[in-house]
Formats: sequence, C-alpha cells, structure tokens
Amino acid sequence: MTGPEVRHNQDADWDAWPVAAYLAENYRELHHIDRGVITHHSGFYRRFPPGGLARTLELGAGPNLYPLMLAAAASRHIDALEPGAANREYLYRQLTGGPDASWQPFYQLCRALDPALPATLDEALGRVRVVRGDAEDLTDGGYDAASMNFVAESVTEDPTEFTTLCAAFTRAVRPGGHLVAAFMERMPSYRIGEGPYWPALPVDEAVLHEVFGPLTTDLRISRLAKDRTLPEYGDTGILLLTARRPP
Ligand SMILES: C[S@@+](CC[C@H](N)C(=O)[O-])C[C@H]1O[C@@H](n2cnc3c(N)ncnc32)[C@H](O)[C@@H]1O
Repeated sequence: MTGPEVRHNQDADWDAWPVAAYLAENYRELHHIDRGVITHHSGFYRRFPPGGLARTLELGAGPNLYPLMLAAAASRHIDALEPGAANREYLYRQLTGGPDASWQPFYQLCRALDPALPATLDEALGRVRVVRGDAEDLTDGGYDAASMNFVAESVTEDPTEFTTLCAAFTRAVRPGGHLVAAFMERMPSYRIGEGPYWPALPVDEAVLHEVFGPLTTDLRISRLAKDRTLPEYGDTGILLLTARRPP
C-alpha cells in the first residue's frame, strides 16, 4: 500500500495563480496581521540608511506589493522574482499603469513607520524590476538583502524541497547579507476561493530553527497570532524571521 502522494513544486501550475481571488481574500484591505508583518519588516529595513542597499530580492513576489514598498526605503534596485505568468502580468500593470487604489493604505502605513520612503507609492515602485524565474534561477551572492513572504512553505509538500528553497534564498545574498521572511505557521494544503488545492508544508518555529540555524547567523524568529478576519487556510498564525548569511 502506498501513502498519499507528496506534491512537489513542479506539480502545481504557478502560471495559473488566481490573482484576483488571492488579492480579494488577502490584500484588498489592510488586515491586522498585515500591520504585524509590515511593522516587523519595516524594523528590518530601518537598520539600513536610505538607499544603503544596492540590490535586493523579493523571492516569489506574487501580486503582493507591500514587501516591495517596504524595501524601497533602503534599496536602490529591487528584483521581484516570480515564476507565475499571471502574477508577473499583474506586477507589470501595477508598475506601468499605476498601483490599484487599495494599496494606498498599505503605503501610508509603510511610510508612517519609515519616513525615509519616497513621498508616493509610484516613486517607491520605480525601484522595482519584475523578473521571470524561480528559486532555482538564483545565483550565489547576487543581493545585499533578500525577502521572502509566504513562499517556501506554500509551494511544496516536500520537506527536502522546502529546505532547498530556503537554502537558495539564503545563498542569494552575499556573505554577511541580510534576510527577512514570513511563513504561514502549520498551514496544510490550501485553496483560494473554490479553486484547486495548492501544495503546502506545515512548518513551525522548530522547523525554521532546524533549517535556518545551520545556514545563518543572528537568526531571530517571532510569531503573530492568527487573524480570524482572513479566510480559513488552516494555519495557526504567521512566523517572522530575520537572519544573516555568515560572513
Ligand atoms: C502563496 S504565494 C505568495 C505570494 C506573495 N509572496 C505574497 O506575499 O502574497 C506563493 C508564491 O510563490 C511563487 N512560487 C512558486 N514556486 C516558486 C519557486 N520555486 N520559487 C520562487 N517562487 C515560487 C508562486 O508563483 C506565488 O507567487
């Protein structure tokens, strides 16, 4: 008898990510938990002088603009790396045609926390370049800092693949480079609306220590309690991480 099949990253059709439904469920309004993630990540970027980072990465950017806004205070050039065609198309439209109005409250919060951000969201997004690709395409040490939000644990059911993706994320920064990330805590496979089930791996703080401990220094992990105003994805909250690649 064989057990249930483990779904790998390649088994899902990332080009078909349901952008509109995902935005509607998660990002059309600023939720309490977004405030938590933004406050955490803003603290990370405030460590650096304005424009103090030459190149930074957003790995698996999806259609989420707030990590890109946050990076704009410290980073002069932000690569939004994304394998999915629908997500890239949405990002291009936001960068060229102007961002959807629903992102303005996110930007107001980011700027209130970090006045070094440009006056407008359009200006902040002017530092972003959308890049087609996935974690396997990353070269060693190409960035000063890297950010990853709800990716490694939300794109595979295979613990080895999760670890490999986290290692690629870590190696994407130069020795001594900086990492910031957010993970859904203990999330099983999930659906957006009535769409297909996407592969996911339930992870907790211990797993993050196991995976990132040997790869990084200055590892800090904290937790946000579950936000009940969001759809039920089966998670128990959000885990937040900062670390550095060893010099
Ligand atoms: C749950 S979404 C998160 C999107 C976005 N980062 C956010 O904060 O909402 C997972 C994202 O990871 C991307 N992805 C899937 N496989 C990937 C891989 N191997 N490397 C990098 N990104 C990947 C998907 O296309 C999707 O945009």
